[in-house]
Amino acid sequence: MNQQRQGCLITVEGIEGAGKSSHIEHLRERLTEAGKSVVVTREPGGTTLGEEIRGLLLSHREGGMDADAELLLIFAARAEHLERVIRPALAAGQWVVCDRFTEASYAYQGAGRGMGMDRVGVLEEWLQGAFRPDLTLLFDLPVEIGMGRIAKRADQGGGDIDRFEQEHLSFWERVRGGYLELARRHPDRFRLIDAAPPIEAVRAQVDEAVTAWLKDL
Ligand SMILES: Nc1ncnc2c1ncn2[C@@H]1O[C@H](COP(=O)(O)OP(=O)(O)O)[C@@H](O)[C@H]1O
Ligand SMILES: [Mg+2]
Repeated sequence: MNQQRQGCLITVEGIEGAGKSSHIEHLRERLTEAGKSVVVTREPGGTTLGEEIRGLLLSHREGGMDADAELLLIFAARAEHLERVIRPALAAGQWVVCDRFTEASYAYQGAGRGMGMDRVGVLEEWLQGAFRPDLTLLFDLPVEIGMGRIAKRADQGGGDIDRFEQEHLSFWERVRGGYLELARRHPDRFRLIDAAPPIEAVRAQVDEAVTAWLKDL
């Protein structure tokens, strides 16, 4: 655990349709049962300004969005989120569970948009210094399955297809590859979850990973 803070930061990552949102409430329950006071939040978003920036990022507009502008907007939302939500909660001894964090910038912008991991690393260092999540659960699955779930979710009234969700399979393959590369680079804090099986089987993996990690803390 990071020695400068009392709580832990757990981030949940993966491509669209991997099941991040589906498992976050369960994660909250597990940690609460383990006696932790838990804050659940998400990126981009998590603050009033952050949610406004999320709206800008997800909405469609003619001409799209410059990739640097996209990355900087995400980090602007993250700056606000870190200062106003994440750091204060950790300092107060709360545990923070975040639906996506900086690893998503590596995967989506670094790998997906082809900006390069190093370019994201510069901003990570600039904003966060040595601050990193204590644990990252990476929900991994073939992109075709993820896209199938997104289409079904939209059909069932789960919101329109946003600016990221409309991307082609090749974009998602790069995002998935970026995430897997990060997991290889940081095996100490990444735990890979096979997100393709039915929800109950995925949940069992989440339980196992979190329980084992808590034991070693
Ligand atoms: N293991 C699973 N098997 C089948 N469907 C799933 C599974 N996990 C999630 N889903 C469904 O897929 C859709 C996307 O899941 P969601 O949790 O919103 O993913 P994410 O937040 O990673 O984009 C939802 O409709 C959800 O009910
Ligand atoms: Mg989600």
